[in-house]
Amino acid sequence: MRIDSAESSPTVELFLDGQRLPARTGESVAAALFACGRKALRVSPRLHQARGMFCLMGSCQECLVMVNGRRVLACQTRVVDGLRVETVPETGADV
Ligand code: FES
Repeated sequence: MRIDSAESSPTVELFLDGQRLPARTGESVAAALFACGRKALRVSPRLHQARGMFCLMGSCQECLVMVNGRRVLACQTRVVDGLRVETVPETGADV
């Protein structure tokens, strides 16, 4: 779900669990992580299966991550330079 203008947007950095990754200003965190090859974002606490982006429109809740200590949907969160994203621990991952 890269937005058209993201292609011409400046390259910035975001951090996923401390790992530095390239991204484009204005694209969604989900798109940036997917472009970096990161498809699994958390582990289901009930089934212990990897979970990742599915609907990309804010409905499925599968792209849950932590930003600034808050649970957010990666597909609904825009990248800004230096954004720090953390994966949600397996326990307590449900919304
Ligand atoms: S991918 Fe479904 S809510 Fe983000």
